[in-house]
Amino acid sequence: MFKDLITKRQSARSYLPTPVAREDILKCLEAAQKAPSACNSQPWHFIIVDDPDLKTKLASALFSGPYVMNAFACQAPVLAIVVSEKSSFMAKIGGYFRGTEFYLLDIGAAIEHFILAAAELGLSSCWLGWFNEASAKKILNIPKDRKIDSVISLGFSNETLREKIRKPLEEISSFNSYGMKEKR
Ligand SMILES: Cc1cc2nc3c(=O)[nH]c(=O)nc-3n(C[C@H](O)[C@H](O)[C@H](O)COP(=O)(O)O)c2cc1C
Repeated sequence: MFKDLITKRQSARSYLPTPVAREDILKCLEAAQKAPSACNSQPWHFIIVDDPDLKTKLASALFSGPYVMNAFACQAPVLAIVVSEKSSFMAKIGGYFRGTEFYLLDIGAAIEHFILAAAELGLSSCWLGWFNEASAKKILNIPKDRKIDSVISLGFSNETLREKIRKPLEEISSFNSYGMKEKR
């Protein structure tokens, strides 16, 4: 059930060395592929790093110095580097007039699909926004005009399910007018 899946998904900050099957990674990628995006421009490219030597080199470049708070991600057997690709012309024009970076919304949807698919497969993940982008771009031959906005750590974890600390529904939503307190 969808409710069970979104409850099961949580950010994992410790990983077992167990490798992840390519077949499972492909299922996560297929889920990301199906995400909605403005004008269907699909402005994302996932680089899956599962080669152990490359992954170790990349992880230490990504998560050292000021980024050491995310060093837990070095344990994950897989890192997915999410490169932001150029949006379609229509999505860019729409975004310009709306003052909205549609490509970031698009990438967010794709990542959420990816990590929910991972959770369904019994995998754990953490969506990461704090990392050394410049060194990762060098290691992975990512062109200068591309950006890595997120990294996902992926693997197996034996962390137990935590309670989700979330703002109450009454605070994050309202019916019929902004902030309107109405009987639900
Ligand atoms: C855009 C984004 C960036 C994030 N960056 C990090 C990060 O750099 N390090 C980290 O440990 N968690 C990071 N997280 C995970 C959040 O801290 C986590 O989703 C939030 O605290 C809710 O916890 P849960 O994922 O376990 O439900 C990030 C999440 C998002 C959506």
